[in-house]
Amino acid sequence: MTEKNNGNLEGRETMTIPVVDRRYQMTETKKAKEIIERAMNLAREEIPKGAVATYIPELGKEDPHQLGICLYPLKGDKICLGDYDHRFTMQSVSKVVMLIVALEVCGLKNVFRKVGMEPSGEAFDSLVELDVSDSKPYNPLINSGALAVCGLLLPEVSFQDMLRYTRNICSDPGIELNESVFDSEMKTCSRNRSIAYLLESKGIITTDVEDTLRFYTKMCSMNVTAESLANLGKKLANDGVCAITGKRFMSSRTARIVKTLMLTCGMYDGSGTFAIKVGIPTKSGVGGGLLSVSDKRAGIGVFGPALDAQGNSIAGCKLLREISNQLRLNLFYDPEWDKEQDDEQNEETVLREMQARSVM
Ligand code: DON
Repeated sequence: MTEKNNGNLEGRETMTIPVVDRRYQMTETKKAKEIIERAMNLAREEIPKGAVATYIPELGKEDPHQLGICLYPLKGDKICLGDYDHRFTMQSVSKVVMLIVALEVCGLKNVFRKVGMEPSGEAFDSLVELDVSDSKPYNPLINSGALAVCGLLLPEVSFQDMLRYTRNICSDPGIELNESVFDSEMKTCSRNRSIAYLLESKGIITTDVEDTLRFYTKMCSMNVTAESLANLGKKLANDGVCAITGKRFMSSRTARIVKTLMLTCGMYDGSGTFAIKVGIPTKSGVGGGLLSVSDKRAGIGVFGPALDAQGNSIAGCKLLREISNQLRLNLFYDPEWDKEQDDEQNEETVLREMQARSVM
């Protein structure tokens, strides 16, 4: 997406405004860009330690060396670097869109009647909790929870409705269904199919299972860019309202619930560590996307298809960690702690020692 057509949708951007003002650290856009460029160089070093997802064969074709970011402050210029305009499939980042629409259309009580609000501590495609009687999926940001949410959405909205909403909230009219990725996943989604049938057996999904699975997989197969994710993140950061046009995309309550779940459950069994190390509500996808929301400050979209063991972008996580530290974006930023932990080696050693002593 070009600056030009984004301008058509959201109006003209104004001049340089500090990226970080809450901390009284007046970081200008130019300075922030230099910081992010340096962070990208560090993050690229992580790429060889990860690998692209291959369980959806079509995703295996992606070049693992790509890395892109778009940081879009509520006030100020968009910063776009690297492969920020490369299209990739949204995958689990779409669970955020499904949850927003479900909360808006079906209501909070109906959603949380079907899914919980707790971190799972399990892999994203785990079936473990479903085999326990009377249990429901831990939260809406893992596969079982998102499939349950799709069961709620299916009678209310079509995939075309969801695509239109996603284009609008991402300020990206170029978002399309990636048919090759969709076909590829539909041929290899036995785990999700098992989850969906288990959910039906428990009465959590009451819609047609195969239709529900197709709806979920289509949502995962929408082609976005890091820039479109930053546009979405910016609206969440501004409590559901576009900071330029004033248009509301969801209630502020929905925005608050979604951001909270992104912080506690957005990175699967890596959510706790990520919250400590980065402290920015984030949702990952196996396509390599990361959607981050620096509350009241910026939306951030990252693309880096080489993944770590949890299925999160390995370079993307490093990049977010660096910019969180450098731009003081951690939700719980504390200047005193920051001084002590400035040296990342030191921080790593402390975390390792604490883990060894089972403090965490
Ligand atoms: O359902 C799946 O397995 C994929 N369509 C999405 C999984 C995913 O993105 C997990 N994220 N890191």
